[in-house]
Amino acid sequence: MTTTKKIRREKEKKFYEMNLAQRLNHLKEVTKVSQHDIEILRNPSSFTFVNANRMVENAIGVFSLPLGIATNFVINKKKYLVPMAIEEPSVIAAASKAAKIAKNNGGFIAECNESLMIGQVQIVSLPISLNTARMRLNTHKKEILRIANSKSKSVVAKNFQVRELDDKSHNNIGKMLLLELFVDTKDAMGANTINTMCESISSRIEELTGGKVVLKILSNYATKRLVKCRAIFSKNDIGGEGVVENILYAYSLAYSDVYRAVTHNKGVMNGIDAVALATGQDFRAIEAAAHAYAARSGIYRSMTRWYKTRKGDLAGELELPLAVGIVGGAASVHPLAKVGLKILGVKAAKELAMVLSAVGLAQNMAAIRALASEGIQKGHMRLHARNIATMVGSEGSQIDIVAKKISDENDVTVRRAKEILFSLKHKRIK
Ligand code: MEV
Repeated sequence: MTTTKKIRREKEKKFYEMNLAQRLNHLKEVTKVSQHDIEILRNPSSFTFVNANRMVENAIGVFSLPLGIATNFVINKKKYLVPMAIEEPSVIAAASKAAKIAKNNGGFIAECNESLMIGQVQIVSLPISLNTARMRLNTHKKEILRIANSKSKSVVAKNFQVRELDDKSHNNIGKMLLLELFVDTKDAMGANTINTMCESISSRIEELTGGKVVLKILSNYATKRLVKCRAIFSKNDIGGEGVVENILYAYSLAYSDVYRAVTHNKGVMNGIDAVALATGQDFRAIEAAAHAYAARSGIYRSMTRWYKTRKGDLAGELELPLAVGIVGGAASVHPLAKVGLKILGVKAAKELAMVLSAVGLAQNMAAIRALASEGIQKGHMRLHARNIATMVGSEGSQIDIVAKKISDENDVTVRRAKEILFSLKHKRIK
């Protein structure tokens, strides 16, 4: 083969066909990552014990996860390579496959609210009526907002509302007031600043109302920070009308039954959490808000909505609160999270939220499509076979050979993998 042909062939390789060096080179060519970033990716100890010890207490080491790239994502007409940190095989392949199918219809369309978060200040034991307390707080709105805003140059407390709340616990606390600050956190997730703002106004609130301030904390239920995403998947790309019909049955079950809804939504979060981890987001906050939103009607339901278009294709939508940031927190200090954000090339927190929602939708579509057609175990076991092959001691090219054989034989077991590796080492394999 001529050198030019060889170069062309190398260039035409799909991401999953490349070796590590080729993948990293590709990232360097098509994203904003530098040579230094590539070295961070190459070096498994880029995130050092010193980093870890600064971040948490009683550190004893660093816990690593596989980091992969989901390909084919086109969101609002922009192409993305999406970093995903996850231990589960087949998630990244599934997202890439679904994104490829969506791309045939123009990709994902997403939109996002402003980065408005809510900070809650709880006021109890009021010596005056709740109404009078509320009026006093509202009369001093400008002053209260000025105190909150003195705590940050970039993040802005724009307004607040005062809400009356009945105690619904069994402790007979009675009524309380909540002052809820609306804070525009811009490109930050904003937790720290919101908490500082809430704490900063608490003594003035006590002076104005005579009550006692107890909690001063952001709400992770970021309902003013919603992201919406939709995509169309052609029936012919997903296996025909029968598969579309089965996917709608699957959706109906997830909408109607909490036991299925939880598993269905776990599939959505497989995608969202993996990107959140790879970009240094607070995935627990994302999870908590997403599930609460899924239960906003009072019943926990599917996070996604699926239906048939007039042409008979499959359309999917996902709406959820997503509080993410590209500045501050782990996104600014974890070396791999910083590289993750560079790979994505997002310019704003809102853009990151839109990417997360697209990956969540893609992931869900891939899972329910597999479940509604051949089942997920075939693909899952094919990928799991590589783990088994490695587990029994296969190295280099042996991994692929052993994995392929146990998966072709439908016998993805340690026993069979050992036998094949033994034969391979003694050249008895056919
Ligand atoms: C596995 O991690 C996720 C799935 O169970 C999601 C689903 O059932 O929709 C495949």
